[in-house]
Amino acid sequence: MPNAYISGTGSFVPPRVVTNDELIKQYGIDTTDEWIIQRTGIRERRFAEPGVFCTDLALPAAQQAIERAGLQPHDLDMIIYATLSSDHCFPGSGVYLQRKLGLCEGPNAKFVPALDVRNQCSGFLYSLATATSMVKSGGAKHVLVVGAELHSAALDLTTRGRTVASLFGDGAGAVVVSATDEDRGIRSWNLGADGRYADVLAQKIWDISKRPFIPQNEQGIGQLAPEMMYALMDGKLVFKNAVERMMTVLMEACVKNGITGADIDLFCFHQANLRINQWLQQHLGIPDEKVVHNIQRYGNTTAATIPILLAEAERDGKLKKGMKVAMIAFGSGFTWGCVIADW
Ligand code: ACO
Repeated sequence: MPNAYISGTGSFVPPRVVTNDELIKQYGIDTTDEWIIQRTGIRERRFAEPGVFCTDLALPAAQQAIERAGLQPHDLDMIIYATLSSDHCFPGSGVYLQRKLGLCEGPNAKFVPALDVRNQCSGFLYSLATATSMVKSGGAKHVLVVGAELHSAALDLTTRGRTVASLFGDGAGAVVVSATDEDRGIRSWNLGADGRYADVLAQKIWDISKRPFIPQNEQGIGQLAPEMMYALMDGKLVFKNAVERMMTVLMEACVKNGITGADIDLFCFHQANLRINQWLQQHLGIPDEKVVHNIQRYGNTTAATIPILLAEAERDGKLKKGMKVAMIAFGSGFTWGCVIADW
């Protein structure tokens, strides 16, 4: 059975920087730079322009990952796309990315399977686990795994929505998971979910139990109340569960691998709130040089946080072959996961 390793990483964020002060000046949100930095660590985030799709952010990240893996798009055997901000309700975003990668026409056309994963902040790790299983079982040699989000279009950028709106930003990350006979790669995955908390962090843009599923006016035009249009969140409950679950799943992963936290060279925590990660770092006694962050610059990019961290850490020389890496995430669902890899 081959091993599965990450052969290439890539990332892309849209060019427009939105600082905390711009949330106040441009959108009139009643907040302060100090409030946001103190509670979350976020200083700025990126917002895509109108007309841009989530897959437009995913494309350059995917191309970079494929190039860094020394491959061409037609070398891929599968695409797995994790997002909660899909281009459309259906079909999933994987097929749009496949088309944008040039896989649907010409001499290099390759109609590889394209799978969408809807596990929010844990989506990338769920996808990585799926790709690993595909590669190890011999079902695929190279799998493109993307985590991409375009949150800015669906944020309530008013004072009413400030608790959620100040947290999120746009961005994309991608990796290629490839087969290898070398003794390296993804060693384990631990995933979990607890549906009791499904409504604690949710965006219920439609209700399929209703007739019609989106309320309509007399002209038959759909109308959405803000509480349906935008994400709702009990931030304190998310925070409490995040620290507990991330700590536990990391411990379970260490036990599975017969290692301790001290054996891990780099920790890539999901970037929801710097305070969540600082709490974990403190309680586990992890030195600063073993942790990478980007929430200060990008906010929470949900499925994209960990692949962006990997791509930037590799680019900056902080992630090198031979290192043991722990990737840990928690998010809406609630869902969570930890993947351990020997880079
Ligand atoms: N600026 C100023 N004041 C604000 C802001 C803001 N941006 N947002 C909220 N407030 C106010 C609230 O209205 C409230 O005012 P009130 O007391 O008059 O009602 C007060 O600040 C306190 O609000 P809380 O929500 O209790 O603030 P808390 O200290 O819990 O911090 C936060 C909120 C930052 C959201 C925190 O709970 C948190 O980070 N939770 C985790 C969230 C998270 O990780 N979510 C995403 C994970 S999953 C995924 O990524 C999909």
